[in-house]
Amino acid sequence: MSKTGKRRMPRWKRIVLVLASIVAVLAVTVGTLFTWLYTGARISTVGAGFHRALAVPPLASSTVEPDGTRVFDLRMQAGETDFVPGGKTPTWGFNGGYLGPTLRAERGEKVRVRISNTLPEASTVHWHGMHLPAAMDGGPHQTVPAGGAWSPQWTVDQPAATLWYHPHPHGATETHVQRGLAGMFLLDDERTRTLTLPRTYGVDDVPVIVQDVRFDGTRLDHGHQLMRSAGFLGDRTMVNGTLDPYLEVKDELVRLRLLNASTARVYDFGFADGREVHRIASDGGLLEAPHTTDRIRLSPGERAEIVVRVRPGERAVLRSFETAVGPDFWNQRFGGGDDSFDVLELRAAAVLRPSPPLPQALAPSELPTGQDAARHRFFELRMSGINGRKMDMARVDETVTRGTSEVWTVRNGNGMPHNFHVHDVQFRVLDVNGAAPPPSLRGPKDTVFVPSGTTMRLAMRFDGAADPDTPYMYHCHLLYHEDQGMMGQFVVVEPGGAAGTPQGAPHGAGAHGHRP
Ligand code: C2O
Ligand code: CU
Ligand code: CU
Repeated sequence: MSKTGKRRMPRWKRIVLVLASIVAVLAVTVGTLFTWLYTGARISTVGAGFHRALAVPPLASSTVEPDGTRVFDLRMQAGETDFVPGGKTPTWGFNGGYLGPTLRAERGEKVRVRISNTLPEASTVHWHGMHLPAAMDGGPHQTVPAGGAWSPQWTVDQPAATLWYHPHPHGATETHVQRGLAGMFLLDDERTRTLTLPRTYGVDDVPVIVQDVRFDGTRLDHGHQLMRSAGFLGDRTMVNGTLDPYLEVKDELVRLRLLNASTARVYDFGFADGREVHRIASDGGLLEAPHTTDRIRLSPGERAEIVVRVRPGERAVLRSFETAVGPDFWNQRFGGGDDSFDVLELRAAAVLRPSPPLPQALAPSELPTGQDAARHRFFELRMSGINGRKMDMARVDETVTRGTSEVWTVRNGNGMPHNFHVHDVQFRVLDVNGAAPPPSLRGPKDTVFVPSGTTMRLAMRFDGAADPDTPYMYHCHLLYHEDQGMMGQFVVVEPGGAAGTPQGAPHGAGAHGHRP
């Protein structure tokens, strides 16, 4: 202020003025920053082109022991992968540098997977979607130490399905999956052998493992960006570890086994030209009848099998469209709902082999209806924990009686997207906010997207072996949320039985299993 003859502005006015200017400058700066963040958060790879032939994970070799057990070998290893020009990318994989082979077994078959962990860290291998004893599940309690081995075995006892396997170490699942540890596990049964569905692996029956990634030079950048409460969201996608992939198609009908193996991203798949596809299977296997649609929305961990018809010589682009992940414009943008990706191009040959028409009926449902539910349970999804509690390896949250059906009500009022996955079972979605589920939620499910403001009722049956000491998990499959503790544990006990003490909790956490 000048010291001229003019009356000086009172001190308080000067302070107010200075403060007001500071606030104004801050507001403009913060406003600019947020606008910049908001605008920059929207991603699209539409039109980027398709330059590389799609890799198809090899079918895992196996041997059959005299008692009929099919034995696979999976080696968790560090490696390097050629993704981008300029050098190799350090990655992890099963039996290779990135991802893993496709395991395949028949309903009724005994399987054993000999896992060796040659990584510098402890991990686990979980069979997502598989109905199997808790001790074989590969959740956070079945740790395979660095340099260690683990050989789970079980009898395949569920319908044909597209399942997958991935690590599940408590607190580190997101990075282990991001580094490349994931693969498919396909189940077949009598029904799929007789139905006239495309089924020549890698030809007209193709795994489509979709992941979003971000590269920093030749390295994979796993960092979370500002405001991304969902966790990691990449700026491009790859399929089966191939960037900008195309697939040469030689048959009129091609079956795509879509797996969202991303850690946080929700995809809404469809074709760029709007053509309809036939959804034939959900997470846990075939639907009762094909469902014709132009959109397939999958949150992390979910699968769908679709059959698409191509015309000779054409190119058809599988895209992921903008989709409502909500609940507000902010979460919509920062949760990835405004993003779009060109995922995979199908390049049809000039002459196509004729495919038989799709069957009208696929498989009768084996799902419980919820009518005979012995128990109802409620799960409130919050990032801070499920039902207000963070995951505790030593605490059993729910005790379920073997041989009974239950209805689980899952609610997300958290203001951000979550999904819900239950180990060991496939469930039926009974209703969504009290209304009958849309056709997209029909069929056996083990993972379901639960947008904020949604209440869903799920019917499931627990008919496996009881093991009061070994829990199965239920959790949000946005892996950052899971790692943060958005997970709980249930055990299956004999009628009248009680939960025991979870074993295998690291750092002795399971030694004093305090009950809730
Ligand atoms: Cu896909 Cu608990 O896991
Ligand atoms: Cu799972
Ligand atoms: Cu979540």
